[in-house]
Amino acid sequence: MIERPRRLRATPAMRRLVAENRVHAAELILPVFVREGASEPVPISSMPGVVQHTLDSLRRAVAEAADAGIGGIMLFGVPEHKDAIGSGATDPDGILNVATRIAVAEARDALVVQTDLCLDEFTDHGHCGVLDERGRVDNDASLERYREMAVVQAEAGSQLVGLSGMMDGQVAAVRDALDDAGHIDIPILGYAAKYASAFYGPFREAVQSSLEGDRRTYQLDPANRREGSREIDLDVAEGADIVMVKPAMSYLDVLADAAASSPVPVWAYQVSGEYAMIEAAGANGWIDRRRAIEESVLGIRRAGADAVLTYWAVELAAWLR
Ligand code: PBG
Repeated sequence: MIERPRRLRATPAMRRLVAENRVHAAELILPVFVREGASEPVPISSMPGVVQHTLDSLRRAVAEAADAGIGGIMLFGVPEHKDAIGSGATDPDGILNVATRIAVAEARDALVVQTDLCLDEFTDHGHCGVLDERGRVDNDASLERYREMAVVQAEAGSQLVGLSGMMDGQVAAVRDALDDAGHIDIPILGYAAKYASAFYGPFREAVQSSLEGDRRTYQLDPANRREGSREIDLDVAEGADIVMVKPAMSYLDVLADAAASSPVPVWAYQVSGEYAMIEAAGANGWIDRRRAIEESVLGIRRAGADAVLTYWAVELAAWLR
């Protein structure tokens, strides 16, 4: 026998030495929910261990994330009042913008404070854009809202805007609006290949989304791989500084394609349903929770993600110490 691959698997030290991929704290990003008017953090029942923060608990969470050495946080706002156009999103005193100011002050540049740029948290119908008179999501009218939202977020201090709405032309529109307002240095993360997924289920509870129906007219069909590449290419062409594949686990092929072709960093979002599945199975003793978490994030890195948004970012960073 000439080939004996087991030689390199014999001891923990040898396996560590030949590991092809590792996860670093610096490439982990924590999604953070902030709820308007909350006096106590509110647990999210379908995401054990994750809460909707108050402004006060947000401060502590940012300090903890910075201490853990993770690369960034992604802020989501949960407003008290929602309306048809998502007015709270463009109100400088809206929850997401207030939270951004607080997070930036607390982070002191130890990590990158990022904001979700999408309307669904703020609209009473729960869609990622505004609706036309027939109730369909109006692409170009939504772009006008995104442009406004981007400028308000930049003015609140956001250090990177994440465009998760899946409207056509959203990266170009937001780039133009930011540049016009003088914010030429704010990078754009394009959620380029974002699929219409069942795995966003718990997120809907986290942001108290009132969505009825689904997002299939704008998010990608899970059947389509080539179309994922097309969306990546379009976002890059429109000026995205980073592109995203989302969810992660069921879309590792799309992620690998993007990693092979993209000239800009490729990130992946391990979404709420992926979190909930491992937490539930772990709590039941059906799988080893810690190993499953480590393996799931490592798998996403191995498939080609340069960074991973994960609700375990801080806990995982502590294990990596
Ligand atoms: C839309 C948005 C969603 C998520 C992040 N941004 C929900 C959706 O598109 O339905 C889901 C994240 C998760 O499930 O963890 N603003």
